[in-house]
Amino acid sequence: MFNRIRGQLIAAVAPPAIVLSAIVLSVTLRGGDVAIAADDDPKNLTVFPKDISKRELVDTMKQWTQALGVRCDFCHEQKVPGDFQSIDFASDKVGHKDVARRMYTMMRDLNGGPLPKAAGEDDAAVNCFTCHRGLPSPTTLERVVLRAIREKGAEGGVQKYRELRERYYGSGSFDFSSGSLQSVTETLAAEPATLDAALTMARLNLEMNPKFADGHVVVAQILDLKQDKAGALTAVEEALKLDPNHRHAQRLKQKLTK
Ligand code: HEC
Ligand code: HEC
Repeated sequence: MFNRIRGQLIAAVAPPAIVLSAIVLSVTLRGGDVAIAADDDPKNLTVFPKDISKRELVDTMKQWTQALGVRCDFCHEQKVPGDFQSIDFASDKVGHKDVARRMYTMMRDLNGGPLPKAAGEDDAAVNCFTCHRGLPSPTTLERVVLRAIREKGAEGGVQKYRELRERYYGSGSFDFSSGSLQSVTETLAAEPATLDAALTMARLNLEMNPKFADGHVVVAQILDLKQDKAGALTAVEEALKLDPNHRHAQRLKQKLTK
């Protein structure tokens, strides 16, 4: 994936005069190894401490890149598209750089004061990853899928879910456990106009998590609302097969067989 970057600060194999004046950052990108030389002292630092070491600066940059799932050029102006060597790190042309400065200041202020010591952990602090979890703009699976459904209908939601799962499953950026689509289903089922979309999402959830008893119960409830008693009963039986003591399923079965 394009967002996978492994950066390494390497001890440059070069004459001492050059070692003193240069840090060489080797970044592994899709196209292979690219070496960027941040030759000079930083020219345009407004939020980092003035005496920040080059190593600390570069480590911080690598952390940000990973926290947001982006490459350096998300914030830094790249004069020639695709050419890492052409990045002007001091330039402020890309708007994300200024946002990042404000995010950094917010984070520092938060950690320095308002963040309560709740669990009493010594190292408790907010960092970029706490909110971003590998995404440029923090969000949740529920939000992205509901937005896709609003814009393109239930099939758009299914497609968006599959795309995200393909790309992010296992990365921790999104929660792919059964609860996310269940919550999407419940939101949609609350409105008669989106009951069919709710059913589509509930079925997608069961395709992904066939052993999710609550998922079968919600399908039963929706089918019941749609006056499909036989379908509802089948779904309720599925739930009871997985969890014979499911109270909600038992009650629904009683109601359906009355
Ligand atoms: C999320 C945005 C963001 C990403 C991604 C990012 N940077 Fe930065 N970078 C900044 C900001 C903001 C500053 C300026 C900090 C300040 O004003 O004190 C900066 C400053 C720098 C500087 C100092 C430039 C100067 O002369 O003032 C270098 C070098 C640098 N970044 C390298 C990198 C590298 C290499 C990467 C990729 C591994 C990277 N950055 C990724 C936001 C980012
Ligand atoms: C408290 C949570 C939180 C923390 C901590 C945080 N961010 Fe953010 N960040 C957000 C949210 C929320 C947004 C989306 C804001 C919006 O869309 O209006 C965002 C958006 C951004 C954006 C703009 C992305 C875009 O696509 O336009 C950048 C760049 C960014 N953050 C960088 C950082 C960096 C770098 C750090 C760490 C120094 C950081 N953030 C820490 C919550 C956070």
